[in-house]
Amino acid sequence: MRLLAFIGALAIIVAIAAAVFFFGGFWSVAESQDDPAIVSWALASVRSASVARQATAAPPANLDEPATVQAGARSYATIGCVNCHGGPGVKWAKFSEGLKPVPADLVAMAKERTPAELFWVIKNGVKFTGMPSFGLAGASDQDIWSIVAFVHKLPTVTEADYKTWTASP
Ligand code: HEC
Repeated sequence: MRLLAFIGALAIIVAIAAAVFFFGGFWSVAESQDDPAIVSWALASVRSASVARQATAAPPANLDEPATVQAGARSYATIGCVNCHGGPGVKWAKFSEGLKPVPADLVAMAKERTPAELFWVIKNGVKFTGMPSFGLAGASDQDIWSIVAFVHKLPTVTEADYKTWTASP
């Protein structure tokens, strides 16, 4: 009984101390500060697990068609992705270096993620990172699938392809 009362009191003290620490402004929300390694690791693991479980949408049949890939390249360039992730022959905007985690290298990512996962991330965004929800920002599912088609092909897209596909008509 005594032990239980002690554990209960301890829990209350810890809760109050945590409330003072967080609500009292002692915890820094600075983006410029690194998270402790264990926090970064936990957040990254939760992100991957979440995306893998949530991403269930079936890709449309035309994902590999050049017209879809090229439409995706145009959306990628105009909707803002290139500012944070860069593109073939195009450097990301300097401000994106101020994000933590830094925006992923999509050429590498494209090989590791399924189209369903790419779709989910682009549509819904990722909490606790700078990755916006483009569904919330008004992009249609069709637009998002075309961007997925482009990102999926990224490892084989040359600078010249990208330049041609994104040139204004
Ligand atoms: C404001 C900056 C910003 C913009 C704009 C942005 N992203 Fe991101 N994106 C991020 C950040 C930050 C992450 C998280 C870093 C990570 O997952 O490694 C991320 C993560 C991702 C991931 C997940 C990578 C992974 O780890 O699985 C994909 C895919 C992605 N972005 C694609 C896109 C596409 C496509 C667009 C445009 C439709 C876009 N992003 C626009 C910042 C941005």
